[in-house]
Amino acid sequence: MVQATPLLLVLFLALGAHGLPAKKCSLTGSWINDLGSNMTITSVNANGVFAGSYHTAVSATSNKIKVSPLQGSQQKSPNQKGQPTFGFTVNWSFSDSITVFTGQCFVDDDGKEVLRTMWLLRSRVENINSDWKATRVGTNVFTRLQSQE
Ligand code: BTN
Repeated sequence: MVQATPLLLVLFLALGAHGLPAKKCSLTGSWINDLGSNMTITSVNANGVFAGSYHTAVSATSNKIKVSPLQGSQQKSPNQKGQPTFGFTVNWSFSDSITVFTGQCFVDDDGKEVLRTMWLLRSRVENINSDWKATRVGTNVFTRLQSQE
């Protein structure tokens, strides 16, 4: 047994490096983006459907900002390999607008989870002639606020 220990150690190290499962990215939890907006995703169900709340740091309106609900869906196909794509809608409770986000949950080179997203913010306009100026587009990067570990 004493002689077997170094052999087992070598075997463990040789197999272990490749045998470790890659870290997965989970949407559940609290996130902050590059604008300082906060969002919390409470849970993701077995079908990939989720809900949460969004506290934006900025607004296209002069209205008082309030926490707003979000509803979304993440891909559950096996091809996601722990870095799933997702989309969610924020129905702003303090304005007439809607924002849709789409993105992917990544594990970066430092092992940190990050959400890379693009969004469309649709504002209500008075009539069809103003439709051309009703939609803004942008990107946001979210990092985890409180660690899940
Ligand atoms: C509005 O202005 O009518 C509602 C608030 C919109 C906030 C936008 S959504 C895209 C971008 N990312 C954020 O975190 N906030 C802004």
